[in-house]
Amino acid sequence: MTNLEEISVLRTTESKISKDLVEQNEFGAVISDHMFIADYYDGEWHNPRVIPYSDLTLNPATLALHYGQSVFEGMKAFKMKDGKVSIYRIEKHLQRFNKSLDRMCMPTVPDFLFKEALKKLVDTDRNWIPDGEGHSLYLRPFVFASEARFGVKIAEEYKFIIFGGPVGPYYGKPLKLKVETHYARAIKGGTGFAKCAGNYGASFYPAKLAKEQGYDQVLWTDGKEHKYIEESGTMNIMFVVDNLLITPATSDSILDGVTRDSILQLADTLGMKHEERKVSIVELEDWMKSGKLQEAFGAGTAAVVAPIEHINIEGNDYTLAPATNDTFMMRVKHKLMNIRTGQEEDMFSWNTVL
Ligand code: COI
Repeated sequence: MTNLEEISVLRTTESKISKDLVEQNEFGAVISDHMFIADYYDGEWHNPRVIPYSDLTLNPATLALHYGQSVFEGMKAFKMKDGKVSIYRIEKHLQRFNKSLDRMCMPTVPDFLFKEALKKLVDTDRNWIPDGEGHSLYLRPFVFASEARFGVKIAEEYKFIIFGGPVGPYYGKPLKLKVETHYARAIKGGTGFAKCAGNYGASFYPAKLAKEQGYDQVLWTDGKEHKYIEESGTMNIMFVVDNLLITPATSDSILDGVTRDSILQLADTLGMKHEERKVSIVELEDWMKSGKLQEAFGAGTAAVVAPIEHINIEGNDYTLAPATNDTFMMRVKHKLMNIRTGQEEDMFSWNTVL
């Protein structure tokens, strides 16, 4: 049995850190100096370590590349106002990570390994956490099947890696979305609720078509009837109608978003009533035609709260009111930011402060 509680740290002697890199805005463009890695074989995790960020050597027969056993999470660490560092909602992310891993027949990650790995990595790269408003250190934990073999099988060897990079706001402007009624992201009984790599690869083509038509993303509908709104690319979707917050209920075809969950809990503290239920395209179109739809926004770790300014349904474009400071979406976004950066009480114990 390997001692997973002792995570060794090998620091780089060639840090590439600079103020410009830490403060840059492009999501995914910059990676910090170190990464965490652990190996799975003989039925258990071994050799957890933080090392200088580096390439991997992969055998061309690496199973994940062929049959898609690859699962990831998206998380964030923040610089707090008092200079401390916090990691947001570790438990909730771990829960979803392990649910995704289970669905893909991959080994789950023990609680203490996930927590200690994140803490060690974030502590090692704490100088990479930007402190500008809306900026953070994005963290990417993932597990992939590393066994080299081309028989179609559940792999017996895996790597668990975490790396991160400084990010700013994901979307720089309000979004134009197109309701997708031809292609499907997920189906009942499928992997839509899991954060597995293939879900993202399969969504690129419909999103590319929508972009060619002038939209930023698609708004996915259910894969069976294309009748109900599910989620948007990289985010859950939320509406405010007649002062009520409405969001599609999670299911096996909708990702159980951590930001979604946070916003629902914060809605109570802001006196906003909410409902999780099915939302049909007909209903959404009716809200927009009658002017009942006060707000529409995406919610996700990368996107945080992303205002939506246009929605297209079967060729009809609807324009929504701008996201002014008194809207629910902006109020909840600020509350979330204040909690994460220690400017408001962390009443749900979401922060792990290092
Ligand atoms: C996230 O919001 O963290 C995601 O995982 C979505 C995307 C950036 C892949």
